[in-house]
Amino acid sequence: MSFLDRFTKPPAPRIEPIGSEAAARLAAIHAASFSRSWSTLDFERLLGERGVIGDGLFLGRSEKPAGFVLSRIVVDEAEILTVALAPEARGRGHAIPLLSCHLEELSRRGVRKVHLEVEEGNQPAIALYRRLGFREIGRRTGYYLKPDGARLAALTMALDL
Ligand SMILES: CC(C)(COP(=O)(O)OP(=O)(O)OC[C@H]1O[C@@H](n2cnc3c(N)ncnc32)[C@H](O)[C@@H]1OP(=O)(O)O)[C@@H](O)C(=O)NCCC(=O)NCCS
Repeated sequence: MSFLDRFTKPPAPRIEPIGSEAAARLAAIHAASFSRSWSTLDFERLLGERGVIGDGLFLGRSEKPAGFVLSRIVVDEAEILTVALAPEARGRGHAIPLLSCHLEELSRRGVRKVHLEVEEGNQPAIALYRRLGFREIGRRTGYYLKPDGARLAALTMALDL
């Protein structure tokens, strides 16, 4: 931060496309968000895949994303692969604009239907998806294996764009 930056208003949050250059930061946010983390290499591979697109949330003057969402597009449908905000960025209403912007980009690319899976009991995520218009279309018993060996169900949700 420069000396002048202390006296000027911080810029508004930005949502911008992200690529494999952000892989290490995405892996760090993912590790702080999920018990089964994905490595930097996992993110590099995913972001190099045809049809996979990502958007990052940038706060203040940071060049590093504070959150991100990744989707895979296949013809006119997409699957949200992962969404996460760094713990310090949560609970401040940033997830809705991040997801809305991403869904708009999917729509621009011709996507008509978006699918996702979410752990039953992940209230912040389920509330977020419902707010965006996703509806529950199914439930997969025992889908997620927790570190303590417990198995939790996944809700499958979908949204028509
Ligand atoms: C899911 C996630 C991106 C949501 O971002 P967030 O900043 O926490 O969410 P927001 O503050 O914008 O709140 C989203 C909604 O969840 C609700 N919510 C937040 N915390 C909650 C809690 N502990 N219990 C119940 N609802 C909660 C909010 O009230 C809001 O609902 P509303 O808009 O209907 O009021 C964020 O929590 C996260 O990164 N979690 C870890 C990774 C994860 O679980 N990703 C989803 C995998 S499918």
